[in-house]
Amino acid sequence: MFERPASGERAILVCVGLGRAPEPDRVEEFGALARSAGAQVLEVLAPTRKSADPRFFIGSGKVEELRARVAALAADLVVIDGALSPSQERNLEKELRCRVLDRSGLILDIFAQRARTFEGKLQVELAQLEHMSTRLVRGWTHLDSQRGGGIGLRGPGETQLETDRRLIGKRIKTLNDRIEKVLQQRETTRQERRRQEVPTIALVGYTNAGKSTLFNRLTRSDAYAADQLFATLDPTVRRLHLAPGLETALADTVGFVRDLPHELVAAFRSTLQEAREADLLLHVIDASDPERNDRIAQVDEVLESIGAQGLPQVAVYNKIDRTGEPPRSGTGEDGLIDRVWLSAHSGEGVDLLLQALHQRLGADLWRGTLRLPPQAGRARARLFAAGAVIAHRTLEDGGVEIEVSLRRQDLERICREDGIELPLAQASCVDAGRFLQSDDSLATRGAA
Ligand code: GTP
Repeated sequence: MFERPASGERAILVCVGLGRAPEPDRVEEFGALARSAGAQVLEVLAPTRKSADPRFFIGSGKVEELRARVAALAADLVVIDGALSPSQERNLEKELRCRVLDRSGLILDIFAQRARTFEGKLQVELAQLEHMSTRLVRGWTHLDSQRGGGIGLRGPGETQLETDRRLIGKRIKTLNDRIEKVLQQRETTRQERRRQEVPTIALVGYTNAGKSTLFNRLTRSDAYAADQLFATLDPTVRRLHLAPGLETALADTVGFVRDLPHELVAAFRSTLQEAREADLLLHVIDASDPERNDRIAQVDEVLESIGAQGLPQVAVYNKIDRTGEPPRSGTGEDGLIDRVWLSAHSGEGVDLLLQALHQRLGADLWRGTLRLPPQAGRARARLFAAGAVIAHRTLEDGGVEIEVSLRRQDLERICREDGIELPLAQASCVDAGRFLQSDDSLATRGAA
């Protein structure tokens, strides 16, 4: 592989505005990305150019200035907000005598640090290798002709390069095979959830909006959250118990960011799939972010691109502890809560969100008392397993009277699959009218 100057943490950032000055929020976001990768930002330069310079991306005058700054500040990393060609990257490294990263390299680096699940790690490694392989192939002639040159140009020899390329190709294939297997496994669990009709709620939102914090708050899990962008790379799905008999699956997804490197788009496939197939989307918005409306539009754009724009959505305005707003909720034309202001951090307003979830997903919740015959042991066990049982007592005949609360369709499914016929429409207290797998005398006994 390339022997580059070692990665360092003291960084100078360069946000180039092509045609006009770079937008301040873009500059700020880039700074946040770099800090998120662990860089200590020493200085941010925001030059404007008509078009990218073919040799250095930035102008040669800027290169001079930058070299002086690198030396003066003892920086060991320069990060450019743009897509550098492999040769531009090398030319800059040679001139600046320090490591140079572009936006893709930076985001890949963040992803590499953050990937936690098996699939996430595979996806990131694949993305890195693909990023690297274009550099190996295209950088080859250039490197060969300058072998033994300055810092950042001590490239491997021809044989080594060819071996590297072959190994990379092999590794990419292995990774693709493994990822395919993991995706299949995930699809199986998703189908199982669908079969069991567990509604899925997906958290979506711009990076750093607070999805993981809200996810933790709601599920009381310890999924990773940090004051860094992309704290979540891997889809995480946890059970969220909303009410007796109302179990849902809550999926955290990776944060959206503009200009995502194309190598990483595949890494999002699985996590975005959760969003596409969800019953409800919680669009988490950082209410304290002055650019929140832009971010909302960018997230909506991504949702549209994956075909999720038509899904029911609740907008969650998070971080009200920063804005000083009171917790509150708003209702859409259909009379359902479609926006909530809360703080995932302090927990204020989270009850309003739970109310919204309950309203949307618990509309067909059935609550009542069932009398099940002794033979309906399996159905009874399933009701317990579904967390649907509020109270129960054993009857003299060995049957059971149980008070349950669960979604009507779940109750109907359990009864259907266990051969029980219930006259649900009639009363809140119903007998298991007929136990279909047995004869009528049993059913009569069961209904005693
Ligand atoms: P990505 O994984 O990058 O997509 O981020 P995320 O949307 O999952 O955000 P995360 O939950 O990691 O939160 C980002 C930062 O915002 C962390 O420092 C949190 O502590 C902070 N944060 C989240 N919710 C709140 C909140 O309600 N109030 C305040 N003040 N900070 C919050």
